[in-house]
Amino acid sequence: MSVASADKRIRIFDTTLRDGEQAPGCSMTLSEKLRVAKALSELNVDIIEAGFPAASPGDFDSVKAIADRNYGPVICGLARCNTADIEKVHAAVKGAERHRIHVFVATSAIHREYKLKMAKEEIIRSAVGAIKMARELCDDVEFSPEDASRTELSYLAEVVSAAIEAGATTVNIPDTVGYTVPAEFDHLFRYLKEHVARIDEIILSVHCHNDLGMAVANSLAAVGAGARQIECTINGIGERAGNCSLEEAVMAVKTRAEFFGLETGIDTTRLYPTSRLVSNITGMHPPRNKAIVGENAFSHEAGIHQHGMLQHASTYEIMRPEDVGLTKSNLVLGKHSGRHAFRDRVSELGFELDDFETNRAFQEFKKLADKKKDVYDGDIESIIMNVGSATSGPWTLESLEVQTHTDEPATVTVNLIGEDSVKASESAIGDGPIAAAFLALEKATGVELVLKNFELHSASIGEDAQGEVTVTVEIEGQSFRGRGASVDIVEAGCRACLEVMNRTLRRRARGDSIVGGVHSEHATI
Ligand code: KIV
Ligand code: ZN
Repeated sequence: MSVASADKRIRIFDTTLRDGEQAPGCSMTLSEKLRVAKALSELNVDIIEAGFPAASPGDFDSVKAIADRNYGPVICGLARCNTADIEKVHAAVKGAERHRIHVFVATSAIHREYKLKMAKEEIIRSAVGAIKMARELCDDVEFSPEDASRTELSYLAEVVSAAIEAGATTVNIPDTVGYTVPAEFDHLFRYLKEHVARIDEIILSVHCHNDLGMAVANSLAAVGAGARQIECTINGIGERAGNCSLEEAVMAVKTRAEFFGLETGIDTTRLYPTSRLVSNITGMHPPRNKAIVGENAFSHEAGIHQHGMLQHASTYEIMRPEDVGLTKSNLVLGKHSGRHAFRDRVSELGFELDDFETNRAFQEFKKLADKKKDVYDGDIESIIMNVGSATSGPWTLESLEVQTHTDEPATVTVNLIGEDSVKASESAIGDGPIAAAFLALEKATGVELVLKNFELHSASIGEDAQGEVTVTVEIEGQSFRGRGASVDIVEAGCRACLEVMNRTLRRRARGDSIVGGVHSEHATI
């Protein structure tokens, strides 16, 4: 079966910075969001949903900052069906040459009765009013009937018709709670195609959540039935079990081009670097067996597979690693590798560093190569992430002494060096080395925090692999994330903790306070 529609181009609408960022543990600072937005534009997504400007002043500022950078893709912001939300989105996105206002209201019986307490007609009136208002501000308006997949089909068709009449240029059908299955979603899209007048004049879009593990399959079913925009996120991050994974949907369309007869504009060689960027920033690392970007996605262990691969790669490989941006070999560098080899490897891994960043990264590489024999791609990526997010002081970790013994508390001494070579040295005792080290850092810097989460990820292979630590801590009731890497995991944890402490001290020096509200720290850090 091949899709019968004149429009062969699928628009990729990336919502990593809105639906993805909304997920617990995935919030990003302003500078992190800018890095992701730039990477998404290099990936060549069509639309970036940059946030929900009415959610908080920090969200507004980050959507505006992304729009003002004008990276290339259409910049979109989400709004409920009310004047204040719509005006906020417009004010935030209008700096981008191409921008979009995305309005939504729930339509299912469950949401009508329990959440909105609104009748069917009221919801249609609200949607129509909001779409008309958005169209006065912007030519590009998307409408989403939230929980569409659990909405009565005939009512959904009525809502979609009214949205098109009101001027929506894209109508998105969300499976908000990840409830549908491919055959049912196929039927829903075909029903709308058949029962909604003028539906061919707009772009029909699909937005799936992954609660039953079918977000990608459901999105592809919708595409088979006429959807021409997929809403998705890098690594599938998002509320609960996540959203449709961008890399999986895109590679399915590309790898099975003869089946779908469709294409996206994505530069697939940017998939892997973009995935790594998002996982390093959020600390949410895809499982090793994750399709497309998992560490095992292209490795063949079984002897019979390896034998087949040696005869001809197509025996067991349906995609080439280089097509998703994974370089062929996990080439190893070491302490004798020069700047030239290092720079080449960095660019093969898909990173673009300026001279200053290259110098810093090379210095870090040399330090690491002194500590461990083989430096793998994962180590290099980790160095680059740290150089990219590296913050200046006031404090740098000079050295660390750790004493542990089973059945006894741990003792850690941290030696910090500050601005003007001031030194601070503190010791603390804790249940384990991390607790003791964090306590010592608190004493040395004067920043008190509560550790909420500590994630450890191995950057490469072998027992001397670098540990990448992501900590989530609470300072004055607000949540912050910090990252650090080292071959010593206590040191990696200290670096991650110190990163947050330094940001706090810099913010205090500027006289900024932490403002309440969802992600409001983003505007100030
Ligand atoms: O899942 C959902 O319904 C949404 C809408 C706001 C599009 O994210
Ligand atoms: Zn969603």
